[in-house]
Amino acid sequence: MTQPAKPVSLPTLVPPSAEFAAQANVSGMDAYKALYDSAVTDPSAFWGNLAETELDWFKPFDKALDWQPPFVQWFTGGKLNVAYNCVERHTKTARKNKAAIIFEGEPGDQRIITYQELHRLVCRFASSLQQLGLKAGDRSIIYMPMIPEAAIAMLACARIGVTHSVVFGGFSAEALKARIQDLEAKVVLTADGGWRRGKEVRLKDAVDEALKFCPTVEHCVVYKRTGSDCHMEAGRDHWWNVLDETAREDVPAAELDSEHPLYVLYTSGTTGKPKGILHTTGGYLLQAQMTMKWIFDLKESDTYWCTADVGWVTGHSYVVYGPLAAGATTVIYEGAPDTPAFDRWWRLVDKYKVSIFYTSPTAIRALIRQGDHWPERHNLSSIRLLGSVGEPINPAAWEWFHRIIGNEKCPIVDTWWQTETGAILIAPMPGAVPLKPGSGTLPIPGLVAEIVDHAGNPVPDGHEGFLILKTPWPAMLRTIWGDPERYKEQYWSKVPGAYFTGDAARRDKDGYYWILGRVDDVMNVSGHRLSTMEIESALVRHPAVAESAVVGKPHEITGQAVCCFVTLKKGITDHDKLGLELRQWVAHEIGPFARPEEIRFTEALPKTRSGKIMRRLLREIVTSHTVAGDVTTLEDMNVLTSLSAQHDED
Ligand code: WT7
Repeated sequence: MTQPAKPVSLPTLVPPSAEFAAQANVSGMDAYKALYDSAVTDPSAFWGNLAETELDWFKPFDKALDWQPPFVQWFTGGKLNVAYNCVERHTKTARKNKAAIIFEGEPGDQRIITYQELHRLVCRFASSLQQLGLKAGDRSIIYMPMIPEAAIAMLACARIGVTHSVVFGGFSAEALKARIQDLEAKVVLTADGGWRRGKEVRLKDAVDEALKFCPTVEHCVVYKRTGSDCHMEAGRDHWWNVLDETAREDVPAAELDSEHPLYVLYTSGTTGKPKGILHTTGGYLLQAQMTMKWIFDLKESDTYWCTADVGWVTGHSYVVYGPLAAGATTVIYEGAPDTPAFDRWWRLVDKYKVSIFYTSPTAIRALIRQGDHWPERHNLSSIRLLGSVGEPINPAAWEWFHRIIGNEKCPIVDTWWQTETGAILIAPMPGAVPLKPGSGTLPIPGLVAEIVDHAGNPVPDGHEGFLILKTPWPAMLRTIWGDPERYKEQYWSKVPGAYFTGDAARRDKDGYYWILGRVDDVMNVSGHRLSTMEIESALVRHPAVAESAVVGKPHEITGQAVCCFVTLKKGITDHDKLGLELRQWVAHEIGPFARPEEIRFTEALPKTRSGKIMRRLLREIVTSHTVAGDVTTLEDMNVLTSLSAQHDED
């Protein structure tokens, strides 16, 4: 057992310093309230005005908001282009030679790409895609390391109206295959590999494996990153640099409908099948850009770094689309925070003079563990604002982030949102809203949130309940790709007329929101969503496994860790060997990041009379350790089961 963390005492209320408030984009509580009130009173006028002034349109929209619950459309009739707004428009201003992307590879290679240069690269790659016959409405899969070409691929697709789906490089060939098939993608954009902890992550090998089963894929474009040998299938596979030799630079930005599908991002739900969350063009981009200004208080002079991978929604909205739409300099780092040593991130902050730094509580906890001497070796005084996302930030992590990284002078914006919400929904405007450590504070303008009970009735302030959202927002998901029924059922049926977030929360007397975690069978491991069902289905595909139940177990660093209860088929007893093999199996079926922390073998799983596995009981076992995790005691669960079977539980 590790030592319990030292209790830390935190201030309960941290108002913005006078200095910060004086320079903030939104300064003082009255300014926040005025924005909130005007948005809630007339959302169409509020967002419509912003859309007109903040985005560039080829054709103005007719109507700002068309809300036919549960389907929403923003800025209908309007035509625009995301890549135009993120890149080309800045080349017509003084930003043209500003760094759009500052990149550092794990081996230490560095590139600084200006807006003009980014525009050239995006157009050239868009031209390569056109050479391959891609056009608006087609779908692409992007399976890339964290290098500028990942962003270039996204933007090139956006420029010609190809809907992309980025698959995180940590996903296996199996997971990649399922996403390609669901999207019926025509092209896969990848690299030979990327660098992670000094080793090559061989992406193209996984693509080759997946493409054996993906008849819709006509082409695969491979960027040479590591230079290692890889198989190239004649007629199907093309080197990025070879296509580039004949690429043009005069590819016009497609004039796309405001509701044109920009991307699909798969996320885990409560079944074994991931959901393809669809985001569209105008509304998504507007909210991504506005939250850069409101929540990150973005200024022309900032150097902004969000450490997320582009494979997650945070990487879409806050590495690529939001920052670039807002004309920011966005930092991209390819590798691991501990390579070559635990100060890599702080070295980068110091080197590039990062002023806004956005990361996850998991990363913070992992770095705390390595000791203060790592950040203390570097000058972090360029940082003026810190951000956190992915899970509630615990007091010890908040305190350390504030004191050691922020030198007690930087606000910490705790940003609550989801893959489905597309952009930040609950977070402080740091020059306006006093912080309460651990709370995401208040909603963005116009968003009406509520805490309700099982019947959908509001609970009193201070009480725990389900977080629901009662008004549509611009970056809201539009549907689940190919499955509008699941969209309705998942998000809009639990509390009729409201969006069900799947999170438990409480609101305090000041109207601040405190997120308590998921209420469904979804785990949060290192700020990444994992479905218990998805891992269970992976486990039962293994020939030795009869049945499995997966729960999240509290973990000091990653928040939760994957813990699997497994029953084996008759006659199979080699637990030691199988324990390792099954962990490896899950990594193979889903991806290394989903590798279970623990496999516990049991003769039977606790079930209700109707045959449902009582995960709740298993969660108690792994959380409170009231039952030891060995086989003998687990057998006793049959007794527990028959006792609790009287009330049919979840
Ligand atoms: C779930 C969404 C949004 C990008 C990262 C994860 C949890 C997210 C916070 C926060 C407390 C948070 C919620 C949410 N979550 N941010 N600031 N405080 N919890 O995206 O994979 O779609 O997961 O992450 O449980 O529902 P995601």
